[in-house]
Amino acid sequence: MGTRGVRVSVKSGRSKLDRWDDLRMKVLTNPTQNEIEMAAKALKEGHLVAFPTETVYGLGADAENKIAVSRIYSVKGRPTSHPLIVHISSMNQIDKWAVNIPEYASLLAEKFWPGPMTLILKRSDLAKDFITGGQQNVGLRVPAQPVALALLNELDKLGGNGISAPSANRFGAVSPTTAAAVKDEIEKFLNIQDLILDDGPCLFGLESTIIDCTKADPVILRPGYLTRSMVEEKTGIILSKIKLYSAVKTSGLLKSHYSPKAEVVLDETPGTGDGFLAMADVPTPQGAIRLASPTTIDEYAKNLYSILRLADNKKLLKISVRMPEGDGLAEAIRDRLIKASARS
Ligand code: TXA
Ligand code: MG
Repeated sequence: MGTRGVRVSVKSGRSKLDRWDDLRMKVLTNPTQNEIEMAAKALKEGHLVAFPTETVYGLGADAENKIAVSRIYSVKGRPTSHPLIVHISSMNQIDKWAVNIPEYASLLAEKFWPGPMTLILKRSDLAKDFITGGQQNVGLRVPAQPVALALLNELDKLGGNGISAPSANRFGAVSPTTAAAVKDEIEKFLNIQDLILDDGPCLFGLESTIIDCTKADPVILRPGYLTRSMVEEKTGIILSKIKLYSAVKTSGLLKSHYSPKAEVVLDETPGTGDGFLAMADVPTPQGAIRLASPTTIDEYAKNLYSILRLADNKKLLKISVRMPEGDGLAEAIRDRLIKASARS
């Protein structure tokens, strides 16, 4: 009920915004255009806004605001040497943040943005050390999620140029794919004026594919929803396999990452009371607690992080995971599971 932007509560007769002020509510569910404008304003004023993308929820700050960006690091507990992805509203913004853009990178941007792909490019002067962790490169992505895009467009209107946003989890923990998971991870570290935009569960559930575009040929640094074969099919570009010991610093390359509290063990028979995750055609071993039975690889990817969270909510000590086989998205899932299972 009520006007666009300010929904009037029938019971109290007061607007959602009044309630937000009074009760210090930080979550805006199914945000209206007015609320997205308000969130863009909050970003411009130096506050943090967690927002949905098609991959995972991000914790955003105005990418040109050093103090706001420093808060991302403290809220996440992330070392400042680990760079942040700058989210931009369209590929027209690429020249603001990057220089010496190779032709293959422009082609990738044209074909796959907006979408789950991050390009690492030589930085422009706009991309400061506080974004890049002191590296000479910058990570750029145009997300496809409508609320994320609307937020970026509104920030542009206010004179902004991009939102720096890592996944909205504590450093090393499981990325959030719902606003409730964002709350669980970081709510206690947020201020009253920070916001969480809730637009439901993320469509893909696995972080973007990161492609290093600083060399003669592109290299995948982090596999994701966009696979090598999709890229090859649409562009003819052959991406090299991940170089685990690349000179470029990517925290997703750390051995232990994406980890729940429960111990994750891979392809081991679970004991009694252990959680168990496998594709639907794999029967549950006796005594194990089945956490999920995805029927497709897409479903596996989409639900992986919420399944790991579910295991923690159930206070399970161990999760035994049967890794999916095959190329493409299965490879990205295995990448995350191997890191989730690493203990150092
Ligand atoms: O799907 C995604 O990529 C999500 C959504 C929110 O966009 N973001 C995300 O951000 O996963 P984060 O910070 O959790 O992971 C991004 C990875 C990090 O490992 C970071 O080190 C790497 O990207 N990265 C960012 N900028 C980089 C740069 N300039 N050079 C190398 N790696 C970079
Ligand atoms: Mg992350």
